[in-house]
Amino acid sequence: MKTNVLYYGDNLEVMHRFIDDNSIDLIYIDPPFFSSKAYEIIYGDAKEVRMFEDRWKGDVYHYVNWMEPRLALMREKLQPMGSIYVHLDWHAVHYIKIAMDKIFGYNNFQNEVIWQYSQGGKSQKRWARKHDTILFYSKTDKFYFDSSGVRIPYTPHKRSPTGSYGGVMGIDESGRRYVEKWGTGKKKLYRYYLDKGKIPEDVWKIQSIQAGAHERLGYPTQKPEPLLERIISASSAKEHVVADFFCGCGTTLAVAQLLSRKWIGCDVSPTALRLVKERLLKCGAIDIEEVGVPKSLEALKAMQHFEFQNYVVSFIQGINNPKLVGDTGIDGWTPFKRHPIQVKQSEHVGRPEIQRFESAIRAEKKDKGYVFAFSFSKPAYEEVARCKQEDKIEIELWSVLDLINADPPPSIL
Ligand SMILES: C[S@@+](CC[C@H](N)C(=O)[O-])C[C@H]1O[C@@H](n2cnc3c(N)ncnc32)[C@H](O)[C@@H]1O
Repeated sequence: MKTNVLYYGDNLEVMHRFIDDNSIDLIYIDPPFFSSKAYEIIYGDAKEVRMFEDRWKGDVYHYVNWMEPRLALMREKLQPMGSIYVHLDWHAVHYIKIAMDKIFGYNNFQNEVIWQYSQGGKSQKRWARKHDTILFYSKTDKFYFDSSGVRIPYTPHKRSPTGSYGGVMGIDESGRRYVEKWGTGKKKLYRYYLDKGKIPEDVWKIQSIQAGAHERLGYPTQKPEPLLERIISASSAKEHVVADFFCGCGTTLAVAQLLSRKWIGCDVSPTALRLVKERLLKCGAIDIEEVGVPKSLEALKAMQHFEFQNYVVSFIQGINNPKLVGDTGIDGWTPFKRHPIQVKQSEHVGRPEIQRFESAIRAEKKDKGYVFAFSFSKPAYEEVARCKQEDKIEIELWSVLDLINADPPPSIL
């Protein structure tokens, strides 16, 4: 099976069509949560797009029904010694835990990892919500786990005046420091070498991505690399295949690449896949294969409008307008000069659309803007010329196909 591939599409279909059974060593997924944040978008089998809030409102079972076949397929794709980590939060973790017990088997549950962070979650009405939950399951009872790369130093007991580790300290004949402690019922004496460190417990305090962090890509649900480093280091070996079927901006894949693992990514957002590709190239990946990314006229026309808009704006590294604004508004802005952008998923864009866009540019107190569409009519070009001459407003008309197929992408500032 091919690795180092980015698949565009609904993961259910991608797994069915392209991924061999028993072929993957480690899966990490961070599916869109059962939350009400407006930026979280979920794509169903029909590739429709809706605000997450609308689709799942009031019915967590709808969400579980949507996840279940995907989780079941992921199990099939794991090799017998493989593992899966499912990243969730309070919205749906209990329901997905039950689904996972059914699919993977109650006995193959390994850990409920609590990722504790300091950002967000504050409220005057209840305790601050400051953690996500990551469910770790193995496919069978024999699974790969190597803690040697993730061990952490032992911490002395806080209340001990001598900094003891809660046992009897000693030094062996080769000079190594250790602490010895009795097991339950005082049946066995355990010796822990301090230089070896210990396996982390199941509560992980890892900072979420800070505003100025070098790894920050502006993807709303991007996860921190140290979180993935720990998971990938312990649950896979070099050359193992790591997959993320909800890969977002590619944190799992980037870390897998940096740790010399093979990887497979999938996302239903071409905007996300664009970010992933750039990120992986920076991490030294070569020969990245992209499957199904829309580049032809037909594929671009078939895209959901909001996604199409994001996709086009992201090509020029612009800033998306998160609101769905329709015909008269502004879909985004250029990255530096903040010139307004309008994206039309249609052919023969004409004079009236250009006139409306001119008013929108004026309302923003700008003197330049960009329209992206499949094609423009002659009157559209005439209106652009008139605008420039009479109103001193410059409007550039761009063919989306030219933009998307340009290599390298043009720089529009
Ligand atoms: C929470 S984000 C993942 C973020 C990721 N862990 C990161 O660090 O960037 C969830 C992703 O799932 C994608 N997604 C939603 N439905 C999908 C589907 N049916 N198939 C594949 N990807 C999907 C969304 O486009 C989004 O990028």
